[in-house]
Amino acid sequence: MLSAEDNELLTRIGPDARMGKLLRRYWHPIAGISDLETSWTRRVRLLGEDLVLFKDRSGRLGLIAEYCPHRRASLAYGIPTEDGIRCPYHGWEMDARGLCLDQPNETNHGALRGKPVTTGYPVQVLGGMVWAYLGKQKTPPRFPDYEFNNVPDSHVRPMRGLLKCNWLQGLEALLDSAHVGYLHNANVQNFAKTMIGSEETTNILLTNGAPNFEFIEKPYGFREGALRPGKTGNTYARIREVALPYFSFIPGRYSGMGTACCSIPIDDENTAQWYIAFNVDNPIDMERFRVFGMADINLDYFNEGMGGWHNMWQQDRKAMKDGYWSGFVGKGNPHEDFAVQESMGPIVDRSKEHLGQADLVIVRARRMLIDAVRRYEKTGETSFAGPEVEFPRIRALAITYPSSEDWKQFDAFNPPRALSAAE
Ligand code: FES
Ligand SMILES: [Fe+2]
Repeated sequence: MLSAEDNELLTRIGPDARMGKLLRRYWHPIAGISDLETSWTRRVRLLGEDLVLFKDRSGRLGLIAEYCPHRRASLAYGIPTEDGIRCPYHGWEMDARGLCLDQPNETNHGALRGKPVTTGYPVQVLGGMVWAYLGKQKTPPRFPDYEFNNVPDSHVRPMRGLLKCNWLQGLEALLDSAHVGYLHNANVQNFAKTMIGSEETTNILLTNGAPNFEFIEKPYGFREGALRPGKTGNTYARIREVALPYFSFIPGRYSGMGTACCSIPIDDENTAQWYIAFNVDNPIDMERFRVFGMADINLDYFNEGMGGWHNMWQQDRKAMKDGYWSGFVGKGNPHEDFAVQESMGPIVDRSKEHLGQADLVIVRARRMLIDAVRRYEKTGETSFAGPEVEFPRIRALAITYPSSEDWKQFDAFNPPRALSAAE
């Protein structure tokens, strides 16, 4: 459990909230690059702020406050210009820095020309996504150049789901290996060959719902080993990388392929949950996604139409009678996660929980996030993104190895030759 005060600290992310101030020291993914191919503007809500992402006629991207500084029309309906965007109402023109370029409805084109009239934030495009920095500091923080940010666009596929609850609920499901054999039981059985590997490892996952967790503390968060005994004398380890404040790297079928997940606060009660599938060696194989219904999806909102309390997130009671654990027949793991997270309410009351051994990873992440807020308040230093962090070296790994070995010694970029990466 968590005190009500700490729960408040962790979950509130507006501009004046303690966690909100810390999160404004990071770069956040805000949109897929394909979103601006068909429209020159896109509404973005991030950390409780309403913004508009636009592409000017020179092809440059800008991110500014959504509402026009004149009389507050939405610039999502704006008209792109050579250097910025023009409000359709009275024609004011602003650029990506938030400067006024023109007031055509005023004598001599206005007195505000060249002056700051609205908020503009820096953006970058990497990993098939647009990223934004919402901090007030002039120097943006380090950009997290994770592996998936350094591969060709064809090797990475970002998919965004929208979740009607707080970001920490989203994150906690991404960190929680302990639920896989339960909530995702049917999917593990049906899709394991595609997603996880061999029959042996699938069976281990299905039959052992209580792995032993071990951790290695890292400057970006921690590595989490979920260890399960395999065939005689072997251990099957799923080694996840947790890069705080909100990334979780899930191992794929071999080292170099995987999914990076993150939980980005839209506001206190809404979250963008990203699943960024990537393969460092080859283009993304779409057939993998077809198997579990994630091939022909709306990449910007893949869970559109998933439902909610009014239809119990489409839970099929008959299938449950026939032994289907979650009842979310034919849906992917995210659907199952989202239903559980939303069912807790917009911001779960963590003071009423009963935590156990299986929740160690959750407890650890909460503690590190609280410490990071306090450290930032005291020293101004940003945790998890210091110069010592090697973002491109963060890689998850699933591996079967002789139990006499120590998984903590394994390098995911060069798994020990004598041992086999789980197939
Ligand atoms: S409201 Fe935008 S120019 Fe008047
Ligand atoms: Fe899950």
